[in-house]
Amino acid sequence: MATQQPATRPANPRFSSGPCAKPPTFELSKLADAPLGRSHRAAIGKAKLKDAIEGTREILGIPADYRIGIVPASDTGAVEMALWSLLGERKVEMLAWESFGAGWVSDVVKQLKIDAEVKTADYGQIVDLASVDCNNDVVFTWNGTTAGVRVPNADWIADDREGLTICDATSAAFAMDLPWDKLDVTTFSWQKVLGGEAAHGVIVLSPRAVARLESYTPAWPLPKIFRMTKGGKLIEGIFTGATINTPSMLAVEDYLFALDWARSVGGLKGMIARADANAQAVFDFCDANDWISNLAEDDATRSNTSVCLKFTDARIQDGAAFAKAVAKRLEAENIALDIGAYRDAPAGLRIWCGGTVETADIEAMLPWLAWAFEAEIKAQA
Ligand SMILES: Cc1ncc(COP(=O)(O)O)c(C=O)c1O
Repeated sequence: MATQQPATRPANPRFSSGPCAKPPTFELSKLADAPLGRSHRAAIGKAKLKDAIEGTREILGIPADYRIGIVPASDTGAVEMALWSLLGERKVEMLAWESFGAGWVSDVVKQLKIDAEVKTADYGQIVDLASVDCNNDVVFTWNGTTAGVRVPNADWIADDREGLTICDATSAAFAMDLPWDKLDVTTFSWQKVLGGEAAHGVIVLSPRAVARLESYTPAWPLPKIFRMTKGGKLIEGIFTGATINTPSMLAVEDYLFALDWARSVGGLKGMIARADANAQAVFDFCDANDWISNLAEDDATRSNTSVCLKFTDARIQDGAAFAKAVAKRLEAENIALDIGAYRDAPAGLRIWCGGTVETADIEAMLPWLAWAFEAEIKAQA
């Protein structure tokens, strides 16, 4: 068993699930072109914001008739503005199998007081997608970041649905194929798969979502920060770069840099391949070691970004303390930073495998995980 420290160290120990590792070629000096100290409504600021929108469309393959907006408050802001602006017109189904999905359930049921049908599954499992009726509005998370469980596909979303699908795709966008024809509202933030900066969110609206916005007014008041319509019409400016309020032009420059980097590794296809290779290295490690396994019970739902692991060794006395100690040991050695399971999730580890992480770093880190495991088993005794 691996009691000796492995010889090779990851060049980059950053495996956090958000903010995620910057692209490997990142340097602060590469953001020197940011129009700092200028108005975001000046021609240069508007042009950068438009580039960010159109670059997103190009790389993610978003149809020309879908609107893409840069909005405040990161992914949370984007999801909240969708929930508060669109729901209440018809019956709602809320799907959740981890912490963030559960948060959206709580918002809809407790804050908006909508009598939604709530379908939940435990960490590691997923709800019965075949039971979902897409004539209702359906809110779900493409990849449950805190469980490492993702929807296996979108076959359960009917093409001729009458409801809207509202999808939190923050840890999926740029790592998984998102079928735009099945998604009416899609949200993500820059700080996840692209390793961008926090605080800015992206909302993608299908023509049907826009039609709902223009034809339906919720019964509750909407703060300015959530408002996408004026006088019953979509505020088109939001979707061409005239943001609702002031964005950070440094964060925009950083996003443009990340988009360029994504192009350089083959765009979406390349990004998916990178995440797949990273996740596969972790899956193979689990297959080769009987003391650790994927939290996702069904292989078809295993995430290729937020890979969540649980320790399964019968010798472990206190699961939570053990997992924490392993993560701490790896952090102390500067081998893996921020890989403890999410605070609401079952005890274990979560290793970010999105495309900004290098496979060589995952491969260098895993033998250290075996080393830390052995060391903690000994320390317990
Ligand atoms: C699925 C999911 N939704 C929402 C969020 C919140 O994201 P943000 O902090 O960017 O608003 C996260 C963050 O990890 C997430 O994983």
